[in-house]
Amino acid sequence: MNCCVVGLQWGDEGKGKVVDILAENSDVVVRYSGGANAGHTVVIGEEKFALHIMPSGAVRKKTCCVIGNGVVVDPGILIDEIEGLDKRNISLDDRLFISENAHVVLDYHKAEDQHRENALGKNKIGTTIRGIGPCYADKIGRSFAVRMADFRNVDSLKEKLKKIVDYKNKVFAALYKAEPIDANNIFKQCVVFAEKLKPYITNTTKYLHESIDAGKSILFEGAQGALLDIDHGTFPFVTSSNASALGMSPGCGVPARLVDKFIGVVKAYSTRVGAGPFPSEQDNEIGQTIREKGNEYGTTTGRPRRCGWFDAIAVKYTVAIGGVNEIAMMHLDTLAGFDELKICKAYRINGTETTFFPSDAVELSSVECIYETMPGWHEDLSGVTSYDQLPQTTKNYIAAIENIVKIPVTMVGVGPKRSQAICKS
Ligand code: GDP
Ligand code: IMO
Ligand code: MG
Repeated sequence: MNCCVVGLQWGDEGKGKVVDILAENSDVVVRYSGGANAGHTVVIGEEKFALHIMPSGAVRKKTCCVIGNGVVVDPGILIDEIEGLDKRNISLDDRLFISENAHVVLDYHKAEDQHRENALGKNKIGTTIRGIGPCYADKIGRSFAVRMADFRNVDSLKEKLKKIVDYKNKVFAALYKAEPIDANNIFKQCVVFAEKLKPYITNTTKYLHESIDAGKSILFEGAQGALLDIDHGTFPFVTSSNASALGMSPGCGVPARLVDKFIGVVKAYSTRVGAGPFPSEQDNEIGQTIREKGNEYGTTTGRPRRCGWFDAIAVKYTVAIGGVNEIAMMHLDTLAGFDELKICKAYRINGTETTFFPSDAVELSSVECIYETMPGWHEDLSGVTSYDQLPQTTKNYIAAIENIVKIPVTMVGVGPKRSQAICKS
């Protein structure tokens, strides 16, 4: 069985936890998009792992880990992750495979990300400043791109970097009056990166197809969420990759036809970090309560997440574009304590009702949510171990969402730990 796990909202849905659970029965876990903008959390008992580039399957010692061609790799962060896991007695030796075609994030990408955000002022996107947009822009532009394969030949990389940094410095000086970046420093960093990462760099497309031919089960780990997809999300307040399920194939070279199941992860409410429209946002006491109860602060940047009611129109849309089969709904425990809960079941745009999500940021900013109001529950769900034990009000809430998005919720989360997930049989 090959499965793909994707976020169906604006990221941070709990993909790391779901991937870790499914990795128990997977031979290989593949990250195929995004970079260190992601922060995926795995909690096992009292131990916590926050992974940014490394697939969440890494914490299971027998699982092979692939970083696909679609990922933008910040080598310093990846090396820290490899060494950090090693210190915790989790070795990646002989089980980490990094695509030679994956693009490399270097310091000038992060500088450019920061300069651009500063220049945008109040119109900024609210990026993670991890250099994601500038690195993907260089990939598409081709002339100034550095790929993992370049670490195999540092002499030619040295020449390449001179040209790239010379160009970047001209742009940075002209547009942002920025201090120049030293190409030699970047090169010196790259020599260290190359030395440490070379053993893992390979043709991951070949590795994946050979694994599939050998009957191994592959788990594909999405990053971000479908509403942050560069083509189908709330542009320009998106990330720079296809963060919906549609990014899986180009990001690792495996066609969707070979994936048996697409599992979409959602929270039982909605959150968003950074700027951009968020129709069901509760910028009030309700949002504040969700944030504190759900510990809604960014895994990567520590920023407080904006919180709101579950938007079933947005999720119905991301299910449709991603061909998603089932839903894993996390954070049901967080919603305990509200007398009433709301689910957005339609939008009103200029007086007209619609149930189709308009991804255009301007149009989306003007929508008014039409809510279904449901009774809440006060029971503490954190110790619930089977679906039957859930209060009827919780089951009704899940059923109301299923009724709108038209696919089943097959897993629910009642706490951050690996053990706090229940499968609906
Ligand atoms: P990801 O980016 O989709 O992997 O999600 P993050 O790790 O950024 O954010 C999800 C947060 O919610 C993490 O702190 C998880 O430990 C936590 N979490 C996941 N599932 C649950 C759940 O069912 N209940 C609660 N209370 N926390 C959860
Ligand atoms: P995971 O995988 C939540 C958001 C940023 C910003 C926008 C663009 O943990 O779910 P970028 O740095 O990518 O150029 O920022 O996208 N963003 C995320 N939000 N979770 C993520 O990843 C995110 N990755 C990017 O906050 O609004
Ligand atoms: Mg996250």
